[in-house]
Amino acid sequence: MTSARGLVAAQSARFAALDPLLPPATEPPMDGHVITAALADGERVAGVISHQRFDRLSTTRLWSAAEVWELLPLVGDTQGMDALLKRWRRHLDTQEIGEDTACVVHWPSRDTKAARAFLDHGLVPLSVLGIRLRTPHPHVPRTLTIRRATPHDLEVVLELSLVELEYSSFVGSTIVRPEAPALKRRALTDRLNNASPIWLAERDGIAVALAECAIVSSEPGTSAAARLPRGRWGYVNCVSVLPGARGSGIGQQLVAYAHQELHRMGAVGTYLYYNPPNPLSSVFWPRQGYRPLWTVWEVRPASALR
Ligand SMILES: CC(C)(COP(=O)(O)OP(=O)(O)OC[C@H]1O[C@@H](n2cnc3c(N)ncnc32)[C@H](O)[C@@H]1OP(=O)(O)O)[C@@H](O)C(=O)NCCC(=O)NCCS
Repeated sequence: MTSARGLVAAQSARFAALDPLLPPATEPPMDGHVITAALADGERVAGVISHQRFDRLSTTRLWSAAEVWELLPLVGDTQGMDALLKRWRRHLDTQEIGEDTACVVHWPSRDTKAARAFLDHGLVPLSVLGIRLRTPHPHVPRTLTIRRATPHDLEVVLELSLVELEYSSFVGSTIVRPEAPALKRRALTDRLNNASPIWLAERDGIAVALAECAIVSSEPGTSAAARLPRGRWGYVNCVSVLPGARGSGIGQQLVAYAHQELHRMGAVGTYLYYNPPNPLSSVFWPRQGYRPLWTVWEVRPASALR
């Protein structure tokens, strides 16, 4: 236990030195499978493997494999990621692994030495948690009508959301499953009924883009605390511009408006996930002021971990 605490403290110091926006490392939950590895210099590193199955009606399945082994590394300030990944691979040899499976690790984007180890073991940087602090950004002139979506807008919100899901399924973690329309309909109905911060951009009275957002609190004990500095954050869950309307400044206008409103609601900054292989969003989000904080390394199926 003492050495696990020592690793957590050393890992926190490593995170702070890498990136001032990373929250301190936390002790991994003890309900997973613990692995350890000895390094050449006698130091030891550890990790917890959490194994989860998502049922057919879980919305998580829209962006995740049905069965996931997630590694929560505890490598302190060592270069022990490679040794830990080798140990993880050996653990998987003892498991029955189907096709709809993945191995996942979240790790600070700026830790390039660890990135080398992830790449060497067959993991790919499939998603990035991008963050943007509330700082003055250039004013974007508004030519569109932008308004808050209401429960009456369900059909158009659903349509734009499914368009994004389909586009992202070619370039990221999203999967278009047969249940997708029903699952999205259920989730969006709830969010619209709860007056979640969702905006539509209209041109000539026709909705051409959607920004579906939320307010998330990062406080001790919340799941957000493992990823974000403390405070109230705007989460940009889905931005979608109709295919024929892309590349004409609509996304930029809508996002500028959403940022302004989320900050008015008290957000210290905003964050989102995007896929580095997405040729639109990987350019779009950095242009809107986002930069990588965490990279989600993933390999599917889980048996492909090297
Ligand atoms: C990503 C998306 C929301 C951007 O909205 P958009 O209205 O097309 O983007 P804009 O016209 O406002 O362009 C803003 C910036 O994005 C980038 N961009 C736009 N079109 C691009 C293209 N075809 N290729 C590369 N970059 C592009 C540019 O950097 C542009 O800024 P600049 O003109 O100042 O250089 C939209 O393209 C979209 O819905 N894509 C499909 C779904 C998706 O990927 N959603 C995001 C998931 S995280």
